[in-house]
Amino acid sequence: MGFNNWNSGLPSSAATAIAAANAFVSLGLKAVGYEYINIDDTWSSKSRGSDGTLVPDPNKWPNGITAVATEIHGMGLKMGLYGDSGTGTCSGYPGSQGYETQDAKTLASWGIDFWKYDNCNAPTSGTSQTRYTTMSNALAASGRDIYYAMCNWGDDSVWTWGLKTANSWRVSSDVTDKWSSIVSIASNAQSYASYAGPGGFNDFDMLEVGNGGLTTAEERAHFGIWAIAKSPLLIGADLTKISKASLALLLNTDVISINQDSLGIPAAYFTPSGKSAPVPNQLHPYWSGRISTGYVIGLVASSGASTLSVNFADVPGLGAGTYSWKECYTNATGTGTSVSATLGAHDMAIFKVDKS
Ligand code: GAL
Repeated sequence: MGFNNWNSGLPSSAATAIAAANAFVSLGLKAVGYEYINIDDTWSSKSRGSDGTLVPDPNKWPNGITAVATEIHGMGLKMGLYGDSGTGTCSGYPGSQGYETQDAKTLASWGIDFWKYDNCNAPTSGTSQTRYTTMSNALAASGRDIYYAMCNWGDDSVWTWGLKTANSWRVSSDVTDKWSSIVSIASNAQSYASYAGPGGFNDFDMLEVGNGGLTTAEERAHFGIWAIAKSPLLIGADLTKISKASLALLLNTDVISINQDSLGIPAAYFTPSGKSAPVPNQLHPYWSGRISTGYVIGLVASSGASTLSVNFADVPGLGAGTYSWKECYTNATGTGTSVSATLGAHDMAIFKVDKS
C-alpha cells in the first residue's frame, strides 16, 4: 500500500515525495496502512555519472535522494524509485541493463525500499524473465530489503514466474482514468488469480481513485476489485487536492483488511447457479475468495443498475449454511443463507462473510 506520482502527472521530485508523505500522516492514510512513497519515471538525470552511477536530477532533488529517504523513514514510511530493465526508461532516462548490480547497490546506499522495474527499450517478448531475474538477484545481494515490483505489462506470462522472482508483477498495459480501462484489466483477472500468494501478487496497476475520470460508484468498484484481488494499492491521485469522497474510499479499513489479509488469496470469479458463465473480456459480476475470517463476496453491477444476489451454497469453499456478514461500503450487517445488493451502474458491494 502506498503512493505513486505517475497517474496524476505530479513531477518525480523531492517536493512530490515529501508532500505525499505529509499527506499520508495528516489525512490518516499512514494510520490505515499506506506506507510506500514511490516516485516514478523522470526522477534521474539523463546521463549516468562518470563512474556509471545513476544521478538524481539536481533540480528535482536539490539535497539528493538520501536526505528525502531519511526524512520519509523518520515519518515511519518507506520510499520507492523506478527504473527500467532495458537500455533506457520509457521517458528516455538511463535504464539498468548491464548496470543491475551497481544500481541495486546504489538504491541500497540511498535507503530505497521499493523498486519498480519497467520494460521499455528492451526486446519485446521472450527475454523478460532473464532481464527481471538478473535484477531480482542484484536486489537480493544489495544488502537491503527492497520490495521488487516488476512492470513488464504481463509479457511472457509473468504470473507463472512472478512469485519466485519478485513481490508483485504488472499484469496489463497502463491503467487510464476511464471505466473501460478498469474493466479491461479486471476482466482478465481470472486467468492468473491462482498464481499469487503471500509475498508475491498480481499488480493491476496504480489506482485512479481521486483523479476525476470515474464516477463515485466506479471508484468503489475499481478500489474494491483491486483490493479483493490482492493487487497492491498504490494511490495515484494528488493527495493535496483529493475529494472527501475519494479519500474516504481509500481509508475504508474493512476493504483494506481484505486486501492485506494474511492468507493472501486473490478473490476470483464464480458463477451462482442459474447465472451466465464469465464471458472473455467482460467484467463478471460475481467474485469470491477465502480470507482468514471466512470469505469475501464481491458483487459488481458491471452491465448497469441491478440487484445481485448470491446463496452461500453457491460460493466455492463457503458452502451452504447460515453465516453472519458485513457489507464494507454501507456497513450493513446481517445473518442468513444469502446476500443481496441493489446497485447503481458500475457500483460494487463487498461482503465479508464470517466463517471463523
Ligand atoms: C510505463 C509504466 C507506467 C509508468 C510509465 C513511466 O511503462 O507501465 O506505470 O511507469 O512507464 O514512463
